[in-house]
Amino acid sequence: MTEHEITLSVNGTDHELAVESRTLLVTALREELGYTGANVGCETARCGACTVRVDGEAIKSCMRFAVQSDGAEIETVEGLAENGDLAPLQEQFQENHGLQCGFCTPGMLMTADTYLKDADDPSREEIREAIEGNLCRCTGYHNIVDAIEATLEQREASHE
Ligand code: FES
Ligand code: FES
Repeated sequence: MTEHEITLSVNGTDHELAVESRTLLVTALREELGYTGANVGCETARCGACTVRVDGEAIKSCMRFAVQSDGAEIETVEGLAENGDLAPLQEQFQENHGLQCGFCTPGMLMTADTYLKDADDPSREEIREAIEGNLCRCTGYHNIVDAIEATLEQREASHE
């Protein structure tokens, strides 16, 4: 089996690893590098549990081969907290009960965090559309939308 030497920068740390052509990015992150935040659900691009950020874009890492990300800057849910402090979005998920079993949460956080970077006073409907690629079978989404809204409100308040 042909192996490829690749470099992945994950949350600011460079990793060199050898992967097979068929190794998925999510598999490399979880099994080779120990970033187990990205979960494997459907493996068919439907659930979003595997969402990570690659070069600034939230993508489903079950839909990308690791070799395709050679040299990329990858951010996973493990990189959201700073110095052990939860990021504001994570705090709001906690405050607003935006998770139950937590399986969808890492992917949901990465999608929402990416969306929040450019979001400007979105409606609840727009927030729902932004997270429509991430399925949650527990919460009914209301509390997740609340958490995202609360993060935006907190950010606006801090700029006033
Ligand atoms: S595991 Fe990747 S979208 Fe479901
Ligand atoms: S909290 Fe259980 S799937 Fe979302």
